[in-house]
Amino acid sequence: MATETSLEAGTSAADVRASEVEEQMTDEERFSLLVSVMGVNDVVTVRDDRIPEGTPMSAGYVPGVERLGVPAQLMSDASLGVTNPGYRDGDSATALPAGISLGASFNPELARASGRMLGREARSRGFNVQLAGGINLHRDPRNGRNFEYLSEDPLVSATLAAESINGIQAEGVISTIKHFSLNCNETNRHWLDAIIDPAAHRESDLLAFEIAIERSQPGAVMTGYNKINGDYAGGNGVLINDVLKGAWGYPGWVMSDWGGTPSWDSALKGLDQESGLQLDLMMWKQVWFTDQLEAAYAEGKLPKERLSDMVRRILRSMYAVGVDRWEPAPEVDMAAHDAIALETGRQGIVLLKNDGALPLATDKPLKVAVIGGHAQVGVPTGCGSSAVLPPGGYAEVIKIGGPGVMGVGRNLFLFPSSPVAELKKLLPNAEIEFDPGMSPAESALMARRSDVVIAFGIKIESEAFDDPDLSLPWGQDAVIEAVADANPNTIVVLETGNPIVMPWRDKVNAIVEAWYPGQSGGRAIAEVLTGAVNPSGRLPITFPLDLAQTPRPELAGMGTAWGTPTTVEYQEGAEVGYRWFAKTGGTPLYAFGHGLSYTTFEHSDLEVDGGETITTTFTVTNTGERAGADVSQLYLTDAAGDARMRLLGFERVDLRPGESRQVTLTTDRRLLARFDADSGQWHIAGGAYKVALGKAADNLEVSGETSLSEARFAR
Ligand code: BGC
Repeated sequence: MATETSLEAGTSAADVRASEVEEQMTDEERFSLLVSVMGVNDVVTVRDDRIPEGTPMSAGYVPGVERLGVPAQLMSDASLGVTNPGYRDGDSATALPAGISLGASFNPELARASGRMLGREARSRGFNVQLAGGINLHRDPRNGRNFEYLSEDPLVSATLAAESINGIQAEGVISTIKHFSLNCNETNRHWLDAIIDPAAHRESDLLAFEIAIERSQPGAVMTGYNKINGDYAGGNGVLINDVLKGAWGYPGWVMSDWGGTPSWDSALKGLDQESGLQLDLMMWKQVWFTDQLEAAYAEGKLPKERLSDMVRRILRSMYAVGVDRWEPAPEVDMAAHDAIALETGRQGIVLLKNDGALPLATDKPLKVAVIGGHAQVGVPTGCGSSAVLPPGGYAEVIKIGGPGVMGVGRNLFLFPSSPVAELKKLLPNAEIEFDPGMSPAESALMARRSDVVIAFGIKIESEAFDDPDLSLPWGQDAVIEAVADANPNTIVVLETGNPIVMPWRDKVNAIVEAWYPGQSGGRAIAEVLTGAVNPSGRLPITFPLDLAQTPRPELAGMGTAWGTPTTVEYQEGAEVGYRWFAKTGGTPLYAFGHGLSYTTFEHSDLEVDGGETITTTFTVTNTGERAGADVSQLYLTDAAGDARMRLLGFERVDLRPGESRQVTLTTDRRLLARFDADSGQWHIAGGAYKVALGKAADNLEVSGETSLSEARFAR
C-alpha cells in the first residue's frame, strides 16, 4: 500500500478526493468526524453508545460515513506494540523494548521493521490509526516518559521515528507523531507551562518533528498536554497554524491528546479533532468539539471553510495512507515479530563499563550469583498508555499506584523472559543461584561465595510521573554496594527507562544498561553477558553525574499536589543533553553516544567538503577480533566562530574482524544553521566550520574543517 508523498496541501490525488467527498457531507456528518471516544478500560468504565456493538475496544473510535465510503477510525496505542489496557479480554501483542532502547540501536532499519510489525498487528485487529511516533526530546533525565521516546538528539529522534512511521504506514495504517510539542516533563502535565525561546525551539524539539514529518508524512499529529509559552499545545495557534501547517505545509490532521483539548476555539488555532472526550469530561467537566463547537458554528464563530478543512485533513490522510482500500489483513507471523523485539533488545543494550568481566566465560564451571530485579521472573517494562500485554500475558504484575488518573496503571509489569532462565541456557557449566536483593546483608552472603555476581537494578517509569531523583528505588543501591564490597567481580545490569546515578560505579567490574528490553529481553541480556551477542548500543541520552550538572537541578512543581499549575523554563533552549555539557564544560557520568563493544574500532581518512552543506567521507575499521557494530558519529564543534555542538550524522556499521568500510554523511543544513525567528528563516553564517568524528560526544578521534557559504532558507 503506497503512501502519498506530497506534502503540499491541496495538490495530491488524496486532497482532491478528500475535497470531493467532504463537499457531499452534511454538517452532522462533518462534526461526527471531529471527536473520538474511548473504549471501556480501567479508567473509562461505561461504554459510550456512540461505539457500535462488535467494535474492538481501543483508545479511540470515530464513526465513518458509510454512504460515502468513509471508514470509521479505530485508534490504538502506541510505539511499543498494540496495547490493551483492559480493553479487550486477554488480547496480547508483540511487546517491543522501550523507545529509548530503539534509540540506543541507532538503527533506522530496525525502526522500520518495528514499524511494519506494529502496522501489521494493528491492522490484523482492525485498527487503522496507530498512536505511535513518540518523539519528545529527552530534556530532563527525570521525565517519566523518556523510555517511550528515542533520544535527546533531534536528528536521532527524527531519523528513527520517521522510519518507524514509514513502516506503520507501509502497512496501510495511519501513524501519528506525538506529542507536539515540548511535552518533556510529566509533573502536573495538564497544568504545566513549558517556556522556551521560540528560535531555540525550532532548533531542537521542533526540528525533530520537522525532519521526521518530512521523511514520513504521518497522517496525524498529536498535540501534548502541556502549554508552550502560555498556550495549551492543543490550542496553540503559533505552533499548529503558523509553524506546523503554515511554515511546514503539513497537510494531515492534528488531534489532541486524550483529555488535552483546552477549548472549542482550539479549532480556530488549528486543532482538527478532540480525542478521548470522556477524559475531557473527567478532567475539565467539558467536551468541546460537540455541542460547543456546533454552537460556535451556528453563531458564525467557526467559519464553514475551517470546518471543511478539519474534515478534509482527516480524509486526505485516510486516502493518502490507504485505510479506505484495505484488502484482507496479511497473516501475522508472531515468531518473526518476536525476532524483531529480540533484535531491538539486543541492539539497544549499552555496555557502559567493562573492566574485563565481560563476556562471561561459557566453558568454566562458574558459580554465578544473580541478585535482584525479579530476574528469576522476567524483565520490567514501562507503564502508561504504551504498556503492551505480551503473548502469554505478564509473568507478574506488582501494583504500585500513585496519585492522579494514571496512578491506577502504575505497576511493576514483568514480561516472562527471565534473565536467570536464559543465563542457565547459555551457561550450561555454571552453577547459577538467585537472591532477591531484599537486604544488603543477605545478598552479600551469596555474593561472597560466588565467582561472579550479576546484580540487577530496575526502576519503573510511567506516564504522568517524573522521577524525584536519579537513584534506584527500593534500596537497590545499598544492595549493589554491599555485593560489590563482598565480591569485586560484580556486573551490574540496569533495566531503567532513564539515566541513573551510580554511587557504586567504581566498585564494580562491568555495567550494562538494558533499558526495558522487551518481551525477549531476558534472552537479549543473557546473550550480551555471555558474548553470544556483541553489544552495540550507544547512549541516546547523556547520563549526568548528578542533577546539579543538568539545566534544572530542581524540577518545578516536584512535590506539589497533582493539579498544581507549574511553569518549567527550558532555559537550555536548543542546547539539550550533550549540547548542554559542551556548552557548560561538565563531564558527565557517561556521555551521549557512549557504548563499549567486545571488539575495537578505528576511524580514519576523514575528508570534509563544504560549500552549501558539509559532506564527510571516512573509513571505519574493526581492529579487534570479533564481529561487531560501530556507530560512527559526526559532530559539529564550531560554526564560523560560534562554538556549539550538534550531531550532524551517524551510521551504524556492522564489520567483521579486520574489515573496513567507507562511509559518507551529508548534513541536513538546518543542523548547521541558526533559526532567525524575526525572518522565519534558517541562517548559515559564512565561514569556517569545524567537525569531529568519533565514538561518543566526549570521545572524538579525528577532526576536520571546511568552509560554508552564507545562506538563508525557509526549510
Ligand atoms: C497519552 C497518549 C496516548 C493517549 C491514548 C494519553 O494518555 O499521552 O500518548 O496516545 O493517552 O491512549
